[in-house]
Amino acid sequence: MSGQEHTNATNPTTSPKVPPAPKGTLKKVRIGHLQEMKAAGRPITFVTAYDAPMAGIADQAGIDAILVGDSVGMTVHGFETTLPVTMDMMIMHTSAVARGARRPLLVADLPFMAFQISPEKTMENAGRLMQEGGAEAVKLETNDPHVLESIERLVSAGIPVMGHVGLTPQSVHSTSGYRVQGRGEDAANILIEQALGVQAAGAFAVVLELVPAELARRVTAELKIPTIGIGAGVNCDGQVLVLHDLIGLTQSPPRFARKYMDMHAGVLRGLRKYARDVRERSYPDPGHSYE
Ligand code: KIV
Repeated sequence: MSGQEHTNATNPTTSPKVPPAPKGTLKKVRIGHLQEMKAAGRPITFVTAYDAPMAGIADQAGIDAILVGDSVGMTVHGFETTLPVTMDMMIMHTSAVARGARRPLLVADLPFMAFQISPEKTMENAGRLMQEGGAEAVKLETNDPHVLESIERLVSAGIPVMGHVGLTPQSVHSTSGYRVQGRGEDAANILIEQALGVQAAGAFAVVLELVPAELARRVTAELKIPTIGIGAGVNCDGQVLVLHDLIGLTQSPPRFARKYMDMHAGVLRGLRKYARDVRERSYPDPGHSYE
C-alpha cells in the first residue's frame, strides 16, 4: 500500500448535516485495503455513482469504494437493460466520478461487448477506462470461462480486476430475466467454481449478485478475496447498492434494495413549489434579483 495518500476531496465540516467519514478511513482506499478488511472482518462499503457531485458525497460519507456501473444505462440514460451502454459512455461517467471523489477506490465496469470479443480488445478497453476515465480497477461480468484468460492478461498488465458472478445483467436475454441465481446444489456448485476461477485468474474481489444468502456465505468462506454482495445476504465481505435504488430515484427497486431516502419525493416537492412560485411571480423576489 504505497503511493500518495489523499484526504477527503470535500471538507466534512462545511456540511453539518452530513456526518463525517468514520475515523481512520481518511486514507486513499486501495485494493490491498479491501483484502485487509476481509481479514479483519470489517464490512466493505461500495456504492455506484455516475457523476461528480454524487461521487463527492459518497467520498464525504466515508464510502470505501465507488463502482461506475454499466447500470448507468438504466439509472441515468433510461434504457431497459445495460446492453446499449458503450465504452464512450463509461469513460465519460468514470472521468466525472474521478473528478468528484478521491478517497474511495474507483472501479469502472467494462460494458457489453467491451470484453467478450477477445483478450486483446479487453486489454484495450480496460486501458481506456484507466487512461481516459481515471479508473483504478475494472469490473467485468464473469459467467463465461473464456473471460478468465482476459482477467489473467489484465492483472499481469497491472490492471486490477473485479469479477462478477451470479446474476450478470449483460446476459439478461440468455438468463430469461433478472432471476435469483445458484438455487439448488448443481447451480450452487457451478457458481462456486466460477468464483474460484475468478480468484485463480487474479481478481482482487468478486461481486455476488442475486444469489441465496447461504450460498453467498459459502462462497465468502471459500474465497481468499473479498466478496461484495448485492442481493446476496449479509454474510458477504462487503455490500454494493445501486445509488438510485438507495436514494429513492428508482421507480420499482428490487426487493433486496433498502431505500435510505426518498429523493424522488423531495425533488418532486421542490419542482412543484418552484413552478408554483414562478406562476405566482413570487420567484424571483428582490432577494434573488439584482439592482
Ligand atoms: O452495473 C452495476 O451497477 C453493477 C452492480 C449491480 C454490481 O454491476
